[in-house]
Amino acid sequence: MRNRRLVFALLLCFSTFWRIEAFKFHRAQKTERISGSAGDVLEDDPVGRLKVFVYELPSKYNKKILQKDPRCLTHMFAAEIFMHRFLLSSPVRTLNPEEADWFYTPVYTTCDLTPNGLPLPFKSPRMMRSAIQLISSNWPYWNATEGADHFFIVPHDFAACFHYLEEKAIERGILPLLQRATLVQTFGQRNHVCLKDGSIIIPPYAPPQKMQAHLISPSTPRSIFVYFRGLFYDVGNDPEGGYYARGARASVWENFKDNPLFDISTEHPTTYYEDMQRAIFCLCPLGWAPWSPRLVEAVVFGCIPVIIADDIVLPFADAIPWEDIGVFVAEKDVPKLDTILTSIPIEEILRKQRVLANPSMKQAMLFPHPAQARDAFHQILNGLARKLPHDNSIYIRSGEGVLNWTAGPVGDLKPW
Ligand SMILES: *[C@@H]1O[C@H](CO)[C@@H](O)[C@H](O)[C@H]1NC(C)=O
Ligand SMILES: *[C@@H]1O[C@H](CO)[C@@H](O)[C@H](O)[C@H]1NC(C)=O
Repeated sequence: MRNRRLVFALLLCFSTFWRIEAFKFHRAQKTERISGSAGDVLEDDPVGRLKVFVYELPSKYNKKILQKDPRCLTHMFAAEIFMHRFLLSSPVRTLNPEEADWFYTPVYTTCDLTPNGLPLPFKSPRMMRSAIQLISSNWPYWNATEGADHFFIVPHDFAACFHYLEEKAIERGILPLLQRATLVQTFGQRNHVCLKDGSIIIPPYAPPQKMQAHLISPSTPRSIFVYFRGLFYDVGNDPEGGYYARGARASVWENFKDNPLFDISTEHPTTYYEDMQRAIFCLCPLGWAPWSPRLVEAVVFGCIPVIIADDIVLPFADAIPWEDIGVFVAEKDVPKLDTILTSIPIEEILRKQRVLANPSMKQAMLFPHPAQARDAFHQILNGLARKLPHDNSIYIRSGEGVLNWTAGPVGDLKPW
């Protein structure tokens, strides 16, 4: 009874919402802008609106690490590397730190991979600390604000909490030295210690050329209703079950493995990218973290993302009208996924597909080389520009600093 009322409330809530959104879309079409609360800013050009100073660090903080393991260029944390390269030749870069609005420290903290390619975060805090010590002793700008006009790219699972297990990440918390800095991160979840106010949430890195190479004709019919490839259980790390994906992926499998509308499996076919272009809905459930590259893939391939990750904060949420693009399903409602998706009116599906077809949406999800207008690099800069001008309160009066250089786990204090 209670469940049925919930579904009803949900549907009612959805349909009311859609009516409003449909109206907005109508208006947006006239101006050829993207609909949604702040959609217009997706089209902004950051050039001329901010100046970024790139610290020059010894290559052991970046290039040398990459030389040791070139796989870092293609894994889903590669945004830290490409953002560095992008900024070096970006027109927003300034060589004069006195006129900079933002300071960027190019440190590749996720490029420490196991033989299997999984990034290890254990050295990252020491590396970050070492880099901050270096910039704060060689330049006066860190001490002037204790990092409040500095930004860092931290694409780890749980960002600057620097651990891949959520429990441990929460226990560690954000590296204390980064307390005042702006963090640019893939991890986004509301009311979570690993996401602080003012952080910029970005998409994970997905290889643009490779995706481009798998594009099929946009007129190919979408004959798959629901598509998903990936783990349902992580037996190795979660033998009892229920902890991985908070049970949401297991629930998808248990409820829908025999449902003909659901094309779901753990097997990753060579036609994975093509299949997404033949699907109407692509499931984007949480895994160990709420985010995964599936979201980027779904948007790029025009498959409506079905986001199952309670309290997720999506990339560039102040610019991209996610409510117009995706379908949001609460983790507890996974058993009703079939009813929820089959109840969506066809006009709504078509409308979402139209918004998804807007090239700006895809651009904002990608870090292409060379960079292109409205891509993820530009969205990051837009996010930084929207925080300007800085408030005067960012400046530290001498003797009134707040950073504690010895705070945090003792292990982090060891030299890097
Ligand atoms: C910044 O502050 C640190 C710690 O107080 C100090 O060691 C360092 O010399 C200062 N940097 C500059 C450039 O004055
Ligand atoms: C800095 O942090 C250390 C370690 O947590 C603590 O012992 C010390 O009292 C703190 N210093 C200040 C000034 O708060």
